[in-house]
Amino acid sequence: MLIARTLPELRAGCAVLRRNAPTLALVPTMGALHAGHLALVAAARQRAAAVVASIFVNPLQFGPAEDLARYPCDETADLAALRQAGCDLVWLPDAGTMYPPGSATRIVVGGPARRWEGAARPGHFEGVATVVTKLFGQVRPEIACFGEKDWQQVQVVRRMAADLDLGVAIEVVPTVRDADGLALSSRNRFLSPEQRVAAARLPAALRMAVRDLADGRPAQPVLSACVATLRAHGFQPDYLALVDAESLEPLEAARPPARLIAAARLGPVRLLDTMVVA
Ligand code: PAJ
Repeated sequence: MLIARTLPELRAGCAVLRRNAPTLALVPTMGALHAGHLALVAAARQRAAAVVASIFVNPLQFGPAEDLARYPCDETADLAALRQAGCDLVWLPDAGTMYPPGSATRIVVGGPARRWEGAARPGHFEGVATVVTKLFGQVRPEIACFGEKDWQQVQVVRRMAADLDLGVAIEVVPTVRDADGLALSSRNRFLSPEQRVAAARLPAALRMAVRDLADGRPAQPVLSACVATLRAHGFQPDYLALVDAESLEPLEAARPPARLIAAARLGPVRLLDTMVVA
């Protein structure tokens, strides 16, 4: 497995891969890798001849009051996991490489970026769109893999890739969950043992809401009941919504393609989850 820490190293590494690989897939990550990230690498391997993973904790997508400083990081474990998963090249830029002095360009996405995470975290998707565009420009992949868990992020990246003619096919990989249903996340490690047990109530509550919505019930009472259940179990929901799966606009009742999306705080962690409804 090749490791690149500078742009010249990345260029050389990609050139080596390109000699034998007609298609390159990119898996962008912020490190602290778990089985969800590795599922993206496995999916990328199936779709392309060579796989590049990037690890970069992107300061641009964190708000001033957010957890950038305590974002988990374990480079040694991440590299071992990527090697094991069959990754061909790891791109490990530092902040100075990604945003050198004088850097002044940002990508602003409207449409699917406007609500939900976009409203709860001003500037977040601008940071995501900017770093993903840069990663695409640096690695020049044909394919890039993103996790279903961050559904709005997938739609924002898809919109951006289409609008800017980036020529990268965006693939979605299903959410990897623990045995009790909780979606894996780098931040789950900050849950206390009690909170970790309680956290599984989020996917359980969503599953019940999905069942009711799929039965044709109107969204508003189903979502209100779900929010009340989550509050009763100690969550502080940021949003819970039935949305059109592409535009992320709210729906009054389920109709394909619809998704439930949720963000809720539990203790120190903000959990995200999503499920397909119809
Ligand atoms: P990060 O949170 O590290 O996630 C990297 C990728 O892994 C994302 O596409 C995310 O959706 C996916 N992922 C996370 N948990 C998953 C799970 N349980 N199952 C399947 N996939 C999962 O998302 C980011 O980083 C950043 O915003 C990034 C795209 C790298 C831009 O900085």
